[in-house]
Amino acid sequence: MKKGFIVVNAYSGNADYLYQAHRLREEFARRGAAVAVVKNHCGIAGMEKNGKIDLQESGDFAVFLDKDKYLMRLLEKSGVRLFNAARAIEVCDDKMLTHIALAERGIAMPAVLPAPLCYTPEATIGEDYAARVIERLGLPVVVKQSYGSLGKEVFLAQSAEELLALARKFRLLPHFYQQFIPESRGRDLRVLVVGGKVVAAMTRTAAGTEFRSNAARGGRCAPFEPDGETTALAQKIAAALGLDYCGMDFLFGKEGLLLCEVNSNAYFKALERTTGVNVAAAYVGHILQTMA
Ligand SMILES: Nc1ncnc2c1ncn2[C@@H]1O[C@H](COP(=O)(O)OP(=O)(O)O)[C@@H](O)[C@H]1O
Ligand SMILES: [Mg+2]
Repeated sequence: MKKGFIVVNAYSGNADYLYQAHRLREEFARRGAAVAVVKNHCGIAGMEKNGKIDLQESGDFAVFLDKDKYLMRLLEKSGVRLFNAARAIEVCDDKMLTHIALAERGIAMPAVLPAPLCYTPEATIGEDYAARVIERLGLPVVVKQSYGSLGKEVFLAQSAEELLALARKFRLLPHFYQQFIPESRGRDLRVLVVGGKVVAAMTRTAAGTEFRSNAARGGRCAPFEPDGETTALAQKIAAALGLDYCGMDFLFGKEGLLLCEVNSNAYFKALERTTGVNVAAAYVGHILQTMA
């Protein structure tokens, strides 16, 4: 049997994050595979003076639950098969890059406008900046940091003043502006794809006036049976990005679903609870089959 390990970020205390590693290890064990959970404290892989990659942890495959792009590349260069692949994780980690990667694939997505970086804290953003964004995307407008999760780095600007305040606050951080989809306010659809197939889906509904429906922000989850068209769409997106495993968020637009974002490391606790689907077993099954 092939040897593998699970890489987790050493600094996340989030219980749902740690739950994933624990559940995957449990499902590997059920199938007779002893797969260790390795914390990425620094030092798993390095490069020597002569360019030789020095691995402290090795195996045939690694379930990569971190997003450390340097470690991912070093492991792949050493021949470790990553689930997901480094390129796929990187493209999904940056929401704006995901949009660009899918641009010519005929996937409906809200319109976006990337924000240029300022690089120096002294840089000033003029009043005309907000007008340029609003002219293209209207109001309210969504402001998102390119890297973010659990709804923490997603904001809704109701006015030019609010937009300007966010643009100034984020001037040194990668971010972008996105058309707000009012029909989907506080509501979205999470679809999970493993090994090219949709395995589970749920709707999420925010409480009160909150516009973000993330389960981590108290969004109520309900099981959802995707129709053939939605299933095909989700599978097409996962294939286009080269993902073994992902959870994607769709917004309910006036004319159908719009892709909001793709999570290469979607938490699956709420989905397992809501749908009764054993997501960890599905992922482990896919990994072991791929590595057989
Ligand atoms: N363009 C949008 N229009 C309406 N609601 C949105 C839009 N973008 C995000 N949302 C809401 O905010 C939530 C979080 O946004 P998302 O891009 O998925 O970030 P995160 O990675 O933090 O989950 C979504 O699940 C959705 O409820
Ligand atoms: Mg999301």
